[in-house]
Amino acid sequence: MNVFTISGGRPLEGSLTVHGAKNSVLPILAATVLCPGVTTIQNCPPLSDVTASLSILTHLGCRVTQEGDTVTVDASTLTRQSIPDSLMREMRSSVLFLGAILGRTGRVSLSYPGGCELGPRPIDLHLDALRTLGAEIREGPEGLICEAAQLRGGAVTLPLPSVGATENAILAAVSASGVTTITNAAREPEILDLQRFLCTLGARVCGAGGSVITIQGGLPLHGGTYRVMGDRIVACTHLAAAAAAGGEITLLGVDPVHLVPVTDLFQSAGCQVHSDGKALHLACRGPLHGGATIRTAPYPGFPTDAQAPVMASLCGARGTTLFVETIFQSRYRHVDELIRMGAEIRTEGRVAVLTGVSRLHGAHVRAHDLRGGAALVVAGLGAEGVTTVEGLEHIDRGYFHLEDDLCRLGAEIQRIDKGASDCGVTKEQKTEKA
Ligand code: UD1
Repeated sequence: MNVFTISGGRPLEGSLTVHGAKNSVLPILAATVLCPGVTTIQNCPPLSDVTASLSILTHLGCRVTQEGDTVTVDASTLTRQSIPDSLMREMRSSVLFLGAILGRTGRVSLSYPGGCELGPRPIDLHLDALRTLGAEIREGPEGLICEAAQLRGGAVTLPLPSVGATENAILAAVSASGVTTITNAAREPEILDLQRFLCTLGARVCGAGGSVITIQGGLPLHGGTYRVMGDRIVACTHLAAAAAAGGEITLLGVDPVHLVPVTDLFQSAGCQVHSDGKALHLACRGPLHGGATIRTAPYPGFPTDAQAPVMASLCGARGTTLFVETIFQSRYRHVDELIRMGAEIRTEGRVAVLTGVSRLHGAHVRAHDLRGGAALVVAGLGAEGVTTVEGLEHIDRGYFHLEDDLCRLGAEIQRIDKGASDCGVTKEQKTEKA
């Protein structure tokens, strides 16, 4: 079992280029299925979720190569229309293959996706969108079968701006005959990235980034090369780390506009933040001030994925900070771990009330999900003493060698392979687990 050990209290200094966005790469890899040719994806970080997507593509019969952060997919050899349960369960985003395989082959069968750690994550909106485009869907306890001899363009109206449902609708609509409009679409930058990728292949998709997306379906697609945008949530995590530990960092490879709700928050908490349009600088030279109310919301609101790392950075901020998690039902699993480190946080339903303490202290903590895990690393960097974080398999889903980036900024963090028998879990924690 791997753990991070972090000696906290060292300020972060220096600059970093942020890797490609997981939440762009995953729909784009699913979209490669639509093209009966060769597509090359650059800035595609070798994350474990990317490995899971490549396994699905290989299972479907595509030829896949991966060299560093470049992935090539030849989907001309696609032969299968189903994804086994074991691959579906590896990650929630496996559901994005639904629209793509259906569009390419007219049939897809798969089981329900994994990834329930944030509370229930239904896919009803995905299925409703596909039905609007003419798909017939049979659902059973084991999974679903989705068929359409020919998808037809239609008017998809989403009751809420779901990122995944918007992406699935786009992927299916690219192969449908005629025009599709998606109203109340999610506006996340990763959806614009998907649109740009599809247009590189010859599709006609416009409007992404706004609430209405229009797709002229049925155009022949050809191969192409595309460079994925930088990961705004990884960038938020580094900003949170510098805010927690102090210091001054510069981030490259992300669009600062995508981070505005988070940079505004750090600014109001006492950090100096500025950008020249390309590089983003954050300096934190004194104690942070709490006092804000942070309400997560669909883009361009405060990202739910940044809630946990930002909470970790504000544990030592003066005053009280209020968090309201509006997107997911159960996204406070990091709170108990932060409390082990001395944080004062009370949660009730979707609200968390954080009262700043003078300093967190090191502890042995466990990541229960991806962003909650990143939050524990942020907390460890700002804490006094040594923090050990287990559950790195969650963190590795979305951060490529997070420890290397942080070491480059001067942090003292190591990935250590601890035997299962000596995982450093305290007696008390072992009893709780049992
Ligand atoms: C995506 C992101 C995830 C981020 C989330 C919200 C990827 C790979 N993942 O997840 O990192 O936290 O957006 O920004 O891009 N819902 C339904 N029915 C559905 C679909 C969604 O009720 O059919 C609900 C969900 O339960 C949730 C809300 O809608 O409460 C938002 O979910 P959604 O935007 O779909 O998130 P994901 O696409 O799963």
